[in-house]
Amino acid sequence: MLDLVMGLPRMVAEAWALSADPPVPPMRPEVVVTLGLGGSGIGGDLLRSVLADEAPFPVIGVKDYRAPAFLSRDALVLACSYSGGTEETLTAYEQAVSAGASCVVITSGGDLLERARRRGHPAVVVPKGLPPRAALAYLFIPMLAVLHRAGAVRSFEAEVRDAARLDADRYRARAEGLAGRLVERIPVIYSATPFLEPVAQRWKDQLNENAKTFAVWNTFPELNHNETVGWGVDGSLARSLHVIILHDRAQPARLGQRVAITKEIAFHRAGGLDEFTSEGEHKLSRLLSLILLGDLVSWSLAIKRDVDPTPVAVIDELKRRLAAQP
Ligand code: PA5
Repeated sequence: MLDLVMGLPRMVAEAWALSADPPVPPMRPEVVVTLGLGGSGIGGDLLRSVLADEAPFPVIGVKDYRAPAFLSRDALVLACSYSGGTEETLTAYEQAVSAGASCVVITSGGDLLERARRRGHPAVVVPKGLPPRAALAYLFIPMLAVLHRAGAVRSFEAEVRDAARLDADRYRARAEGLAGRLVERIPVIYSATPFLEPVAQRWKDQLNENAKTFAVWNTFPELNHNETVGWGVDGSLARSLHVIILHDRAQPARLGQRVAITKEIAFHRAGGLDEFTSEGEHKLSRLLSLILLGDLVSWSLAIKRDVDPTPVAVIDELKRRLAAQP
């Protein structure tokens, strides 16, 4: 798992080069809908963050059996499942097909690839044999590449090159220090800006799956309108929480002011607090630098908790038991 986590920058460059077969035709979608769950769902959330301030269409992430009712021929659906066997994604994909939406799949194989091949839908086939969450770059970056090659968005090549230069070794000591402070605490991950929402969620997901621990996330400014009041919990409960605030180096100053005040009026009750700021020139490296750090924290916490970061026996059992039921 450590090798895979450290390999993220390399995978980003490889993933940009992956192409769809058959190639994606030119298109100007009115809406882009991503289908995918867990490790295969976060790519759609990252796509929304990257494109929110520049694309002429909305990006909507669906983590459900149901595709949205508004799907039509003008929609582009990116169906993503690493295994190709996730039932929610397969069901929503069938609905997208029935609605006449253009569909592209991103997968390492399985039923999803078979169905796409049968229908002649473009498929980006990613390398096999990884835990889905470790394949994040392969599942996310091709979404940008597909949209670019269809003529729907600009090239992200310079941003990909910038992200591929992230130096994982530089994050290791910081990650191990934080992991040491998280043992026996519940991580509460806050993004200082909605741009980093999927990063806060990724931290939570990785802490769940790699470190096998409970974690929660939320984002500014929304949390100032509800969760901030929840810090009125009993002192002993508050002290079991460890706040991690993720800042974007380009976030609006007003959000920084919100964070500063919230620390004074609420988070001072927490057992601990750490803050990290994104690095890099462009949006992609700003997102991926913090993802790299969070992935390393989750790995390091797994080691400190003496659990194996790789298997996710509970998810496997759940899928097995569901498959046994009609
Ligand atoms: O990390 C995991 O193993 C899960 O979150 C999976 O990604 C999730 O269960 C969906 O499976 P898949 O990625 O194969 O569609």
